[in-house]
Amino acid sequence: MATPDLQAWNTRFAQDAYIFGTEPNAFLVRSASHLQAGGRVLAVADGEGRNGVWLAQQGFAVHAVDGSKVAVAKSMALAKERGVSAVYSADALVPGSIFHECADTDAWVWPTQAFDAVVGIFIQFTKPAAREAMFGKMIQALKPDGVLLLEGYHLRQPEYGTGGPTALDQLYDIDLLAAAFESLERLELREYDQEVDEGDGHRGMSALVDFIGRARIS
Ligand SMILES: C[S@@+](CC[C@H](N)C(=O)[O-])C[C@H]1O[C@@H](n2cnc3c(N)ncnc32)[C@H](O)[C@@H]1O
Repeated sequence: MATPDLQAWNTRFAQDAYIFGTEPNAFLVRSASHLQAGGRVLAVADGEGRNGVWLAQQGFAVHAVDGSKVAVAKSMALAKERGVSAVYSADALVPGSIFHECADTDAWVWPTQAFDAVVGIFIQFTKPAAREAMFGKMIQALKPDGVLLLEGYHLRQPEYGTGGPTALDQLYDIDLLAAAFESLERLELREYDQEVDEGDGHRGMSALVDFIGRARIS
């Protein structure tokens, strides 16, 4: 049974148009060079699949998780349209394929040290306690030397009103991300304003925060 929040996402996604477009997120595209070729990637809250399907097209083995069954169905359709092989279990993943899983990330049993990369693009649906728990699970899911890519909206984003949550406690700044991911080797951390054109859901001048980090080899 979907939570009321996930039911709201189902309702929002229930249209033919892809709310966040079908092209990959710009930060993901410019940062993908950090990812190990052919590696196993967890795409957290991957929505309608623009990022997960693109990653599979780049030759990664993509495990895409999202809590909205409507979004997952649209991602499956996008994979089919792009000729990307969709597999039916995580064990069947090979480079260039995608496995879709519909799951609430609050309840999901997150794998441990299973991924060469974990990608989170605009995953600001949680309140602080659940966010801390989710960030911890994202770190836990990385293999040693694995890379985490995260982009979200900055605390100033409500001034623009061009997408994302309006609740300040769901937004980021660099201090919040520096503290949350201090266990990772930091490769990039920056906050900046930029024009975003990613579907009707994210369009216009936006305040963004990006983080890239690598799991230490202990
Ligand atoms: C702003 S959208 C971003 C989707 C995708 N990452 C992208 O950039 O196109 C946020 C996504 O979070 C998903 N979501 C919200 N709450 C969730 C939860 N508790 N568990 C899993 N996914 C969730 C929604 O279904 C939606 O697809």
